[in-house]
Amino acid sequence: MYNNIQIQVNDHTALLEINRPKNLNALNRETLEDIDHAFQNELLNDESVRGVIITGAGEKAFVAGADIKEFMHYSQEEGLALAKWGHGVMNRIEAFPKPVIAAINGFALGGGLELALACHFRVANQQAKLGLPEVSLGLIPGYGGTQRLAQLVGKGKAMEMILTGEMIHAQDALNWGLVNYVVEQTDLISKAMELLEKMYGKSSNAIAAAIKAVNAGLSKSEDGFSTEMQAFGDGFGTPDFKEGVDAFLNKRKPKF
Ligand code: CAA
Repeated sequence: MYNNIQIQVNDHTALLEINRPKNLNALNRETLEDIDHAFQNELLNDESVRGVIITGAGEKAFVAGADIKEFMHYSQEEGLALAKWGHGVMNRIEAFPKPVIAAINGFALGGGLELALACHFRVANQQAKLGLPEVSLGLIPGYGGTQRLAQLVGKGKAMEMILTGEMIHAQDALNWGLVNYVVEQTDLISKAMELLEKMYGKSSNAIAAAIKAVNAGLSKSEDGFSTEMQAFGDGFGTPDFKEGVDAFLNKRKPKF
C-alpha cells in the first residue's frame, strides 16, 4: 500500500519504518504523505494498535532530513507551502492520542530530527548523530525545529545547534535531554517496546488526555511557528539557498 514506509503490528505496537535507505530515508513529499496517511488512518483507527515506534531502514540513518533534491528548485511560495504542510504533519503526530516514540538509528538531521521532535519522546542508538544543518543550505529548520528543540533542550543549546548547524552525538543528546535513552542498536526497538508496554498496562484514555495536556501547555502561542514557516519559505528566494544546495549536490563546502 505504501511505497516509502513499512508498518508491522506486533502485540499492540506498530513499528513504522521509513524505507528509503539509499537516500538515508530523506523525507520526500511522498514519504511524508505516507507517514501522514498512516497516522490519520490505520494507526489511529486500528484498536489493536496502542503505541507507535518510528524508525529508519538501513544501518546509517533514521532520517537525514527533507529531500534536498526534491525542493532544490522551489520558489519562496513553494518553500512556505512546504513548511505549512510539514508543520501540519508534525502537529498531527505530536497530537496523536496514542504514544509515539522515535527510535533513532543513526543520522537524525533537519526534517528527520524535526520528525523525532514531534514524537512524544526519543531513544537512540550509540551511533546516532542529531542536528539541524539547514543553515548550511541557506535555510532554517522548517518542520517545527526552531520551536520544539528550544522547548526540549532550552534556548541556549537549541541556538547552538541551529546556528552552528553541527551534529551532536547520542551521548550529548542524552545529557541535553534530547533523547531519553541511548542503547546498543540491537536493543533499540526492544527498548522502545519495553517503554510502550509499561503504558499498555495503564488507561489509554488517561494517556491520550496526558498527551493533550502536556502539549497544550507548550503551544500557547503559534507565533514562533508562523515566523519559522515564513522565514523557511523566504530562504528559498536567496542566493545562499542556491549555493548551499549546489554545494551539497556537488559534495563540496558552501561559500556564503
Ligand atoms: N536529501 C536528499 N538526499 C539525501 C539527503 C537529503 N536530506 N541526505 C542524504 N541524501 C543522499 C545523498 O545525496 C546520497 O545520494 P547519492 O548516493 O545519490 O549521492 C545518499 O543519500 C547518501 O548520502 P551521502 O553520500 O551524503 O552519505 P555520507 O555518509 O557521506 O553523509 C550525511 C551523510 C552527513 C547525513 C549527508 O548525507 C548529509 O549531510 N545529508 C544532508 C543533511 C541535511 O542537510 N539535512 C537537512 C535537509 S533540509 C531540511 O530538512 C529542511 C527542513 O527543515 C524541513
